[in-house]
Amino acid sequence: MLISQLQVSNLRNLSHVELTPSPRINLLFGENGSGKTSLLEAIHMLGLGRSFRTQQYRQVIQSEQSELLVFAQIDAQGTGEPRPLGVSRSRDAELKVRYAGESLGSAELASLMPLLVINSDTFDLLEGSPSIRRQFVDWGGFHSDPGFIRLWRGFHRVLKQRNSLLKCGKIDARVRALWDAELVAFAEPLTELRAAYIEALKPVFEEILAELLKDVRVELRFSQGWDSKRPLAELLEENFERDLRQGFSSSGPQRADLRFRADGQDAAERLSRGQKKLVVSALKLAQGALFYRQSQRACVYLIDDLPSELDERHCRQFCRFLENSTNQCFITCVEPGLLSRVWDADTPVRLFKVEQGKISQSAAPGEHDER
Ligand SMILES: Nc1ncnc2c1ncn2[C@@H]1O[C@H](COP(=O)(O)OP(=O)(O)O)[C@@H](O)[C@H]1O
Ligand SMILES: [Mg+2]
Repeated sequence: MLISQLQVSNLRNLSHVELTPSPRINLLFGENGSGKTSLLEAIHMLGLGRSFRTQQYRQVIQSEQSELLVFAQIDAQGTGEPRPLGVSRSRDAELKVRYAGESLGSAELASLMPLLVINSDTFDLLEGSPSIRRQFVDWGGFHSDPGFIRLWRGFHRVLKQRNSLLKCGKIDARVRALWDAELVAFAEPLTELRAAYIEALKPVFEEILAELLKDVRVELRFSQGWDSKRPLAELLEENFERDLRQGFSSSGPQRADLRFRADGQDAAERLSRGQKKLVVSALKLAQGALFYRQSQRACVYLIDDLPSELDERHCRQFCRFLENSTNQCFITCVEPGLLSRVWDADTPVRLFKVEQGKISQSAAPGEHDER
């Protein structure tokens, strides 16, 4: 997956910008409020049809404009033949996606453009609610198994039905047995895929973390959402009265989570801010590395303010890892400083200056822009 050309119109303060990114490392630097995160948001819009900053897409459309547009040439399968992808969103909620002359749905778009974000919200993988960690697991399930999306959608459809029956307060026993059987029929294979993904991810994560952060070991464990020694059907039956009182289903994949332990303690409690940043980054980098091993396709990484929280040594290690991977990276920072100097001479790096919603390619200090 590679973006070879990018145009953004009417997205926040980016009225109209065009850039030709490097296939590997792209550094965007500029003052606060210049539009760096907005450019990452534009790429996210292109890959997923939504922002990572807000669910209120109206905020993303430039004030006084009716529609935002992100257009790119992308090489989705790495064949060397880029094709046009355009995503537009208007104030009346319509998302339109056109790829090589055809309309795409959101799942087709997501599988076309494997995207991973590392920003200050990524800390939520350790500190936030279980739903954030389930999204992380499901990114992997979605991208590693073509059957995952059907199970995921099926499970959530049946769960919604079961919960609305529970809220009504009265369910005929035969109707309940039917719904429960259907729920289990989706829940079990969905959970197998999630568990298999985390098993495959674990060694990759450990390897990358050892590279980014020496001396800290973090243990990752998948918790499937119900007692793994018991069949889900049995628990649905056993907890039914409680579920009815509460008005929702208390066991199942909707309760799945990941647990992180560092030196035997909850990692969110134990680690420093900088250490946490490296742990959550290692998780995201492991996803991209595993995706590459499984599909031979690279990911696009959007890394907002890479240097924040990191000392120079760890910042260098992070960059070294990105340099040795195959991903296309869009990295923002306020001052290019260290980030413009850490790369090997043969790594394709492009530096872009962002200023009041305008983007220009810039030469690294004392060097050529193309190295
Ligand atoms: N809907 C909008 N229309 C126009 N400008 C906007 C809109 N939303 C945000 N902005 C402005 O866009 C600018 C870009 O912000 P941002 O991309 O977060 O900057 P950076 O990441 O470089 O600090 C900010 O100055 C903000 O006020
Ligand atoms: Mg920003």
